[in-house]
Amino acid sequence: MLSKGLRMKRKASADATRCVHSGEDRHGQAAPLTTPIAQTAVFVLPDVKALRRYAEGDRDFYLYSRYGNPTVAAAEEKIAALEGAEAAVATSSGMAAELVAALITCQAGDEIVSMLDIYGGTLKLFEQVLPRCGIKTRFIPYHDIGNAGRYFSRKTRMLFLETPTNPTVRCVDVAALAEVGRKHKACVVADNTFATPVLQKPLELGADIVIHSATKYLGGHSDLTAGVLAGSKQWMEAARQTMILTGGCLDPGCAYLLLRGLKTLHVRVERACRNAAQIAEALEAHAKVARVYYPGLESHEAHQLARRQMKDFGMMVSFDIRGGERAAERFIDRLQLWYLAASLGGVESTVSYPVLSSHIGLGAKRLRLLGVSPSTVRLSVGIEDGGDLIADLNQALARA
Ligand SMILES: Cc1ncc(COP(=O)(O)O)c(C=O)c1O
Repeated sequence: MLSKGLRMKRKASADATRCVHSGEDRHGQAAPLTTPIAQTAVFVLPDVKALRRYAEGDRDFYLYSRYGNPTVAAAEEKIAALEGAEAAVATSSGMAAELVAALITCQAGDEIVSMLDIYGGTLKLFEQVLPRCGIKTRFIPYHDIGNAGRYFSRKTRMLFLETPTNPTVRCVDVAALAEVGRKHKACVVADNTFATPVLQKPLELGADIVIHSATKYLGGHSDLTAGVLAGSKQWMEAARQTMILTGGCLDPGCAYLLLRGLKTLHVRVERACRNAAQIAEALEAHAKVARVYYPGLESHEAHQLARRQMKDFGMMVSFDIRGGERAAERFIDRLQLWYLAASLGGVESTVSYPVLSSHIGLGAKRLRLLGVSPSTVRLSVGIEDGGDLIADLNQALARA
């Protein structure tokens, strides 16, 4: 058993303080400032009495790292504090978190209602994997989100939301949809990956469970793969049991990197939002750009909603380039500072081409519903100098 060390004496009330201090235990007599990596698969118990207490449900002890680990627990506690949740469960990836969410809310014969505008991997999980467990999903296209209630049946157990969406940064009203979900007795699950808890807190807006691909902004340095669920103690107890039995636990070394990344989440988000706003404005004024997708722009369809629901407008900017596929390809290849990479959310600014990555293989009709075309380019804005980033975009647009 690891002793509880020195803890933050006062509960943090601001996210910037939560990022740095929540969850961190200063273990042991030497009290290191950072939480150490408990690099072990198993823990030693002092005696059979302790083992008996564990068997009876006492969780003051660690037994086996798949069940729980102090480094992983520190990351969970920090994320729970940031999301305003009673508890959190870390997983090996965002997809593992999505699977756990589906398995704790649904059984064979049940249904999920989900937005159509969700991460492609989640869409495939719902369409290709869950039907094998007898779980069916009905998808709501964005233009019909106002009629969400029509997609529910007596079998619906989960409403799945993602906002802002990938890549057109569409936003949906979490509070209004949570109300619809509650009316139909469905568990409301929100993927908060794009916004982060610094910009948006779905639980405060009425969601029951928040999930993240922590691979993105929470980790923030493109050096780890992780996921997390956060919510009430009751939901998280179910999530932990299912995570334990499906095996998607987070490795302690990875949890250490996640903890380290989380400490700077607030400042990274603040800086990247500022850069993103400047970039969106510069692109909107550019003759080679047909349309910019950024909720901070007044031209964005959900600008007023985003203003209400989020603290700032986020770090993702997408746009349609004039000249179609050829121009998009030339533009991306001519960028010198922006790396072509399929992920997002790191300190480095990256560019992705949705029709060949996140949206590959989707038919023309579905792409049209999602507002994605071969002209669409997605930018994940990092924390570099905004002027340097715009200069690079401009030189690549000039030669696209
Ligand atoms: C919004 C969103 N949710 C979930 C996932 C899946 O996360 P992971 O890749 O960590 O499994 C991703 C991955 O890109 C994502 O963008």
